[in-house]
Amino acid sequence: MDKLNVVTCSAPVNIAVIKYWGKRHEELILPINSSLSVTLHQDQMKTTTTVATSRSFLEDRIWLNGVEEDVTHPRLQSCLREIRRLARKRRNDCDPNLDSTSLSHKVHICSVNNFPTAAGLASSAAGFACLVYTLAQVFGVEAELSGIARQGSGSACRSLYGGFVRWIMGQKEDGMDSLAQQVEPETHWPELRILVLVVSADKKAVGSTSGMQTSVQTSCLLKHRAESVVPERMVEMTAAIRRKDFAAFAELTMKDSNQFHATCLDTYPPIFYLNHVSQKVISLVHRYNRHYGETRACYTFDAGPNAVIFTLQQHLPEFVQVVHNFFPPETNGGRFVQGLLVGHVALSEELKQAIDLEPTPKGISYIISTKAGPGPCVVDDPTQQLLGSDGLPNINCLMPCSPGITKIK
Ligand code: DP6
Repeated sequence: MDKLNVVTCSAPVNIAVIKYWGKRHEELILPINSSLSVTLHQDQMKTTTTVATSRSFLEDRIWLNGVEEDVTHPRLQSCLREIRRLARKRRNDCDPNLDSTSLSHKVHICSVNNFPTAAGLASSAAGFACLVYTLAQVFGVEAELSGIARQGSGSACRSLYGGFVRWIMGQKEDGMDSLAQQVEPETHWPELRILVLVVSADKKAVGSTSGMQTSVQTSCLLKHRAESVVPERMVEMTAAIRRKDFAAFAELTMKDSNQFHATCLDTYPPIFYLNHVSQKVISLVHRYNRHYGETRACYTFDAGPNAVIFTLQQHLPEFVQVVHNFFPPETNGGRFVQGLLVGHVALSEELKQAIDLEPTPKGISYIISTKAGPGPCVVDDPTQQLLGSDGLPNINCLMPCSPGITKIK
């Protein structure tokens, strides 16, 4: 076995507060509207990827959560091709002496998530962002990478930056201007807290790629949304984030999630991502806010039933208690709240009565408590590598908390 060139990196999940839904070009993954997201902290949710190159490798290979997958997948091929093209361009343009031997080498890619690949937990975004970022390190590519990650999965382009990120839809036919940009870094709004309420660990019914195709073909609400609603909301949301106006941020977030799910219902045949637990979370948030006469929490839902809640640090312990009260977990079911510590408070009878919902036992299996976090980074610790000296997946790939396999869609 010849010497390996190995790099390991990690990348974050992102949650859109202005949703991307619908493409104007399927292969290049060009969207019909811009979108905006918050990058979640990698201490709680991340993808880790190791890429190795060696003269000894006979073919490109990929393993996801320890299981070998089909490397000929078109979106994976797009990312590999683009990175190799940029590496070649760099060598030809500016540095002919660059050690380019590895350019002709095959790659082994191994990727794992530190969170269960439950419905709608955006594993493809973190996965493709991590893949592209790691390949770029291996091949010495220093270019803008969001346009490449976008060709793996649209939402992945936003995971290349930390904090608050927008994906500008762009105008050009070749997609060169359809890129992600940071709006504010993760340090901008330290009081902002995020809760992922894991409602169901089932795989989502209709994947986002095919779901949005049907929506583009059949929903006139989606057309109206993309043309008339989102452009204004992008401006308002950017301003709300810049001035840390929680009420404005939260209202826009809820309205945009609701409109996205309305376009799913307007799709023919209709698509349902929310279930009865999701609907109860929606009622709970509105009743909680109504009780205080101000917007203290908001929700957003992607292509699955899990809720993502945004709130401010000062309201977090009480809101978590509210969730615990109306979705009582199994008593022996492990820790209900995982991730960042949440303090304990007692709930007032007055608040419980004001919310006035029938409790749904075990409706939520657990909560991941997190905050906004940074973009991808190189993992220097060699013990974290996922490929052994033989270039094959090692023990680190057998993650204890990854019951499902994240296939690249
Ligand atoms: C509802 O990025 O998963 O999460 O581009 O086809 O891979 P493809 O779709 P994907 O869609 C994400 C849709 C969403 C909204 C969002 O993240 O903006």
